[in-house]
Amino acid sequence: MYFPVYRPRRFRRTENLRRMVRETRVSIDQLVYPLFVMPGSGLKNPVPSMPGVFQFSVDRLMDEVREVSRLKIPGVILFGIPSEKDERGSEAYADDAAVQQAVRAIKDAFPDLVVMTDVCLCEYTSHGHCGLLDGTEVHNDSTLEVLAEVALSHARAGADLVAPSDMMDGRVAAIRDALDENGFDQTGVVAYSAKYCSAFYGPFREAVDSAPQFGDRRSYQMDVCNAREALREVELDIEEGADMVMVKPALSYLDIIRKVKDEYDRPVAAYNVSGEYAMVKAAGAKGWIDEERVMMEILVSIVRAGADLIITYFAKDAARLLQ
Ligand code: PBG
Repeated sequence: MYFPVYRPRRFRRTENLRRMVRETRVSIDQLVYPLFVMPGSGLKNPVPSMPGVFQFSVDRLMDEVREVSRLKIPGVILFGIPSEKDERGSEAYADDAAVQQAVRAIKDAFPDLVVMTDVCLCEYTSHGHCGLLDGTEVHNDSTLEVLAEVALSHARAGADLVAPSDMMDGRVAAIRDALDENGFDQTGVVAYSAKYCSAFYGPFREAVDSAPQFGDRRSYQMDVCNAREALREVELDIEEGADMVMVKPALSYLDIIRKVKDEYDRPVAAYNVSGEYAMVKAAGAKGWIDEERVMMEILVSIVRAGADLIITYFAKDAARLLQ
């Protein structure tokens, strides 16, 4: 009877053998934890569709940041909830708004923690779109000026990295120019380059109340069917000065992460978004899946696909397991 000479099972026999030949590892070094910050004080409001995630006022946020820092997670990304929304989303670039205050407070107390800020208007506009309106259209070029103002206000507050997530054309160049002209040449730009028009953002929009009041985001976020277009977006952002590029969401877009990693030499971030988190938490709570194992399998798959960094609501849970 014929037996193969090479038997793959030999290396699967014991845990130490498996450890020796393991190809992919997720490290705490790769995790970024998203935080939602709101005006006021003493507030810590749960986000119902995202168990374990809260909207914090700046004072209460600091306990959460202390925990993130204790877990040795290297960075956070901040999202803001305004006290008032208007047509232009002007609270997005107010120096005393929640995000700007939070950046200052975090950099003050935890200077080594990398603070990234999401640069977008959808949380701040009364219409819920990511840019300024011209009638019912989202107008590209007038939005760029506002986005540059937002990025500048984050840089002034002390953000290490600004992350435009609006998907306007030319926004990386507009932001890079504004930063450089104002002496912020060390503030980096993390571009949400391949950001798809995804149904997986649902719970996030509940968390920051940013669902568009009419229409949808199809005229600026990418069509989920397109892969080559993602490479063009990444190329443009790198030409415009992006220091890091991002693919978002992560799980349904592992092929995109791999392509970007193979073609370009910038660090690649992947955003394991709110809907991806909510599904695991919901099924885990029902006892239908083993939540911890599924979480780690997801994070490994994102790293295996080529991501250098993962923005994930699982960062704290994962860091506890990886300690
Ligand atoms: C802002 C923004 C969104 C997310 C990150 N930045 C929402 C959107 O585009 O509607 C989604 C993050 C998540 O779902 O976890 N434009």
